[in-house]
Amino acid sequence: MLLDGKTIIVTGGNSGIGAAIVVAAAAEGANVVIDYVVHPDETKECIEAAEKAGGKAVGVQADVSKVDDLQKMLQAALDNFGRLDVLVNNAGIETRSSVLDTTEEQYQRVMDINLKSAFFGTQLAAKQFIAQGGGGLVLNISSVHEDWPMPGNTPYCVSKGGMRMLARTAGVELGPHDIRVVNIGPGAVATPINKSTIDDPEKLAALNAAIPMGRMADPQEIADVVVFLASGKAAYLTSTTVFVDGGIMQGSVGL
Ligand code: BGC
Repeated sequence: MLLDGKTIIVTGGNSGIGAAIVVAAAAEGANVVIDYVVHPDETKECIEAAEKAGGKAVGVQADVSKVDDLQKMLQAALDNFGRLDVLVNNAGIETRSSVLDTTEEQYQRVMDINLKSAFFGTQLAAKQFIAQGGGGLVLNISSVHEDWPMPGNTPYCVSKGGMRMLARTAGVELGPHDIRVVNIGPGAVATPINKSTIDDPEKLAALNAAIPMGRMADPQEIADVVVFLASGKAAYLTSTTVFVDGGIMQGSVGL
């Protein structure tokens, strides 16, 4: 198994891409720590799914936008499994609001959940990796929009642009400690974050037409890349982004 006995924290692990990562990691023998804020039931299901897949999992009540709560997740990893091997900063939201209509509150929430949690999660994980010795890995679930504009979703793009530089800079700073920081940049994935598109046949057709592979990704297709990156088979990869986007960023109508 690719992740046998490795301990992995997955923020936002009870839905969407996060839930797929939890099950995929568990199926490869990982111990997984998941957070929940409002949905203990979904987390319970997630834990059961992870155990059914062959791994171990625990749920922690935590709001990832608060550093104390991220610390709680790390503590749960140490209490239950004795160490941390991989942090997956996956939690993310979007407001689908433009630069003209975004409120201060919307901006703050997106930045806190997407970027602040990834920044301080990286800091806490790195300190733990240094304390326990032997290096470690931080994987950030970013987006094609760390680099590619999405008009009408400006705060999200700004937060993902920040994640881009988090991976670049923290990866450079932490390299000497054998700690790697890698972003995964999914394109459009069939998850709750894209519900408004999935539920609107016209919007969905337009999105599919913009993707060279002609369809959204299944969350499993992102989770598989996470497993690969966490497996030790990608040991020289750091300070960069692996885009998993069906070609959407390179799409061209050939005019
Ligand atoms: C965003 C979606 C968008 C997709 C492709 C994702 O990161 O969350 O809203 O459809 O990128 O553009």
